Amino acid sequence: MKLLVIGCGGVATVAIHKCCENPLFTEIMIASRTKSKCDALAEKLRGRTSAKLTTATVNADSFESLCEIMKECKPHTVLNVALPYQDLTIMDACLECGANYVDTANYEAENTDDPEWRAIYEKRCKEKGFTAYFDYSWQWAYQEKFKKAGLTALLGTGFDPGVTSVYSAYALKHYFDEIHYIDILDCNGGDHGYPFATNFNPEINLREVSANGSYWENGHWVETKPMEIKREYDFDGVGMKDMYLLHHEEIESLAKNIPNVKRIRFFMTFGQSYLTHMQCLQNVGMLGTSPVHFEGREIVPIKFLKALLPDPASLGPRTVGKTNIGCIFRGVKDGKEKSIYIYNVCDHQECYKETGSQAISYTTGVPAMIGTAMVASGTWKGPGVFNTEEFDPDPYMDALNKYGLPWQVNENPVLVD
Ligand SMILES: NC(=O)c1ccc[n+]([C@@H]2O[C@H](COP(=O)([O-])OP(=O)(O)OC[C@H]3O[C@@H](n4cnc5c(N)ncnc54)[C@H](OP(=O)(O)O)[C@@H]3O)[C@@H](O)[C@H]2O)c1
Repeated sequence: MKLLVIGCGGVATVAIHKCCENPLFTEIMIASRTKSKCDALAEKLRGRTSAKLTTATVNADSFESLCEIMKECKPHTVLNVALPYQDLTIMDACLECGANYVDTANYEAENTDDPEWRAIYEKRCKEKGFTAYFDYSWQWAYQEKFKKAGLTALLGTGFDPGVTSVYSAYALKHYFDEIHYIDILDCNGGDHGYPFATNFNPEINLREVSANGSYWENGHWVETKPMEIKREYDFDGVGMKDMYLLHHEEIESLAKNIPNVKRIRFFMTFGQSYLTHMQCLQNVGMLGTSPVHFEGREIVPIKFLKALLPDPASLGPRTVGKTNIGCIFRGVKDGKEKSIYIYNVCDHQECYKETGSQAISYTTGVPAMIGTAMVASGTWKGPGVFNTEEFDPDPYMDALNKYGLPWQVNENPVLVD
């Protein structure tokens, strides 16, 4: 089966390592903006895999550039691990060239000052009640096009979204008649030793965590100020951590796909030093996404900041500690109330030894490969646009155990108030 992977950053590196372990993928083309990164990775993996590896340059912002390489490669499936800015162009190119589409993050506009985009965004903010720059409406709008083309688009197969949504489908299938409350907990207990760095693409990461928080309750969104809601939680393998409520994309799809759910929240852990740095950068305007004039040229502050911060792909050797990511579900089974926590604990250094990447890239890259394998093998099939909770969770859960993200179920978890 021929696979085209677009992007060759932190997440892509792990996903491609893992695709090389899976005999389903016999030919893999790695295409990205900077071809030298694709060449270096292909060189490292040749001899360790039976898959034929090729590389190419692509500008994923350009439909023409994408179609050119897709016509050369003729992929069965395209894995998009570039940036959310490119989701729609890559989906368009997949439709044009007859390939299935897989990604790990929903569409986000790069230029949030574009008046045409802004008008749609502001209407959505009013109608739906949350102000995040990203939402599923853009990609769900491709439903009919993918159906008509007989192709599958699988959205958001990273850890969160991705595994957290599969955990939800699994909990509903095996543990509950109805799920009423979902708390998604994302804890990174890792330490990279830098005063400030982000674990994945700094631009996407800082946009996400500096935005308003929100959660789903009784059929509508409740929005909060950034970091307004804080809780403490004692994570298996990590210990006690502060965590903060964020808006997160899987809340939107789970609210649609988990019947009778009453509340869905998402919490992420942050240390005080991270928050102080972020607040300071925000206060001085360094998180700005609009261009400013500087010495005769235009620069976008957050893009300049990205150039100064450590490359997330370089954090692997220096990050120690563990992650613990999972979902606490509360609901009813056979008329009785119950709660469970399904989660994975991942060790940064073990991920580094295996793939040269830290656990954030690892916990996203492994499910990116698994989701792609589900589509490529036809285990998950059906024309249209899907989120990961819409398919049978069992083969995906088995693959998590097989490919490095084993999960556990705690049937008596401490709840979050
Ligand atoms: N669901 C989850 O759990 C989860 C978690 C973390 C991240 N993610 C998502 O995973 C994706 C990748 O994140 P990452 O940390 O790996 O980012 P990254 O390290 O910045 O890698 C992005 C890659 O995309 C390439 N790229 C960017 N713009 C491009 C363009 N116009 N044309 C072609 N290639 C382009 C970059 O090329 P250069 O090498 O030239 O810069 C780079 O290789 C993001 O969408 C992120 O939101 C999802």
